[in-house]
Amino acid sequence: MKISVLSDIHTDLNDKENDKIIDSLRLISEETDTGVFLIAGDVSNNYESTVNFMNELTKNSHSSFYFVPGNHDMWNIENKIDDSWKIYNEYKKYDWCISGKKINLNSDWCLVGDIGWYDYSFSEKNFFYSEFNSGKNFDRQWKDKLYVNWNKTDSEMTDYFFNNFEELVKGENKNIIFMTHMLTNNFFTVHDNEMWKFFNAFLGSEKYSKLINKYNNIKFSVMGHVHYRKIFSQNSCVYICNCLNYRNEWENPENSSYNEIKNAIYTFEI
Ligand SMILES: [Fe+2]
Repeated sequence: MKISVLSDIHTDLNDKENDKIIDSLRLISEETDTGVFLIAGDVSNNYESTVNFMNELTKNSHSSFYFVPGNHDMWNIENKIDDSWKIYNEYKKYDWCISGKKINLNSDWCLVGDIGWYDYSFSEKNFFYSEFNSGKNFDRQWKDKLYVNWNKTDSEMTDYFFNNFEELVKGENKNIIFMTHMLTNNFFTVHDNEMWKFFNAFLGSEKYSKLINKYNNIKFSVMGHVHYRKIFSQNSCVYICNCLNYRNEWENPENSSYNEIKNAIYTFEI
């Protein structure tokens, strides 16, 4: 079975009138005869747009598309839904959203996933908790602090997802593909400037790779969020961060979405 991976497709910002991400994805999934297509979050900045996109994408589609929300999919700028749990629980109603679920792919493999969250463990430690808690530093604001409201601390949210993940993977004998939006490994953190020593705080948690190392049947950890296209192996797991990103970050910003996506998708066989 062929599995394809792509994240951070940001359809609301990347779509052009004559070049829609949805058309390119549907066509490529068919041309490449992909069995399962994984989208690791950040489809759009608004819940209704993401739901509409995923409903349309999965209608009579060639591949089985599965999704976990990203932080952007949780934002309440447009919909003004104050309680993020309402948005999260809406996503969970759809079969294409695997949050908190286990999907059996075949007799040997299953798929588990959810957003995941961040607990500042990927940052340098010499910042104040109040700076992390506000998401403000270097004259920049981490926007989840304004537009996502779980009514829990980030550390509590990281643990919430961690505990759900462990419930899903413990006792499972099949090989597992583990999909999150947030980073499960600090290999993918950003080291190209001072600012990221702080903002790496909001990319993921080191707890998740500890979970992966504990359960060695987790063979793939698929994620997005950091706008990289990188793959690496550690112990028995292959970590894949494979993002489409904004057009100005594309390998060729003049590319059609078809060409850029075809070039960007990462595919493996199970
Ligand atoms: Fe993200």
